[in-house]
Amino acid sequence: MSAEADRRAYLDALGIDVWTRRGAVIGPVAEVAGTSTAPEHLDWLQLRQKVAACTLCGLHKGRTQTVFGVGSETARCMIIGEAPGAEEDRQGEPFVGRAGKLLDEMLRAIGLERSEVYIANILKCRPPNNRDPSAEEANHCRGYLERQIDLLNPRLILAVGRIAAQQLLNTDAPVGQLRGITHTLRDGRLPLVVTYHPAYLLRSPLQKRKAWEDLCRAKKLLGEQLK
Ligand code: URA
Repeated sequence: MSAEADRRAYLDALGIDVWTRRGAVIGPVAEVAGTSTAPEHLDWLQLRQKVAACTLCGLHKGRTQTVFGVGSETARCMIIGEAPGAEEDRQGEPFVGRAGKLLDEMLRAIGLERSEVYIANILKCRPPNNRDPSAEEANHCRGYLERQIDLLNPRLILAVGRIAAQQLLNTDAPVGQLRGITHTLRDGRLPLVVTYHPAYLLRSPLQKRKAWEDLCRAKKLLGEQLK
């Protein structure tokens, strides 16, 4: 299959129609183990080990394993989700369940393979019954995520879902209000785009058009970083 046919197939899998003019697809119809060293001093391996040994909150009692993050440590795009679910807790990797499969399709639709991005979550341990992370749990995990961002030094963050967006932007605003604009972190140096969580998109497929708009925004920003 050609790259264009590939892209079409993924968009199709997402349920997104595209319209074509003069042969080009031009847009959617609508839319360290156990150390006391602070995370900011750790390298990738040390940070992974520290997270694996973490007992800062009660979630460590129910986990099979921590879910640190996955992908390229030189990725330009960092995807941040909420917390591991049952499958992620079993496999030790973020976004490997049904929502993860859709996330993979969403990334492919903008020409990115899972291996080319870095994927992490606000929480490194699974909350029981997939409940929302508590403020205390998110605060305890925050230093780990901030260090992952430091080490990766991405050109763009894509926050998927309400919890990731609200935590990263320190707001209570709903995703509907946070998406559709480009936010920044780190004194304006790091662009952040908000989109719907793939688990929500599985339940509300009509919102996929808006998610596609968000992905196009992310792709454009990544393209601009290359210039
Ligand atoms: N949902 C998330 O936010 N993260 C995962 O890793 C899996 C599901």
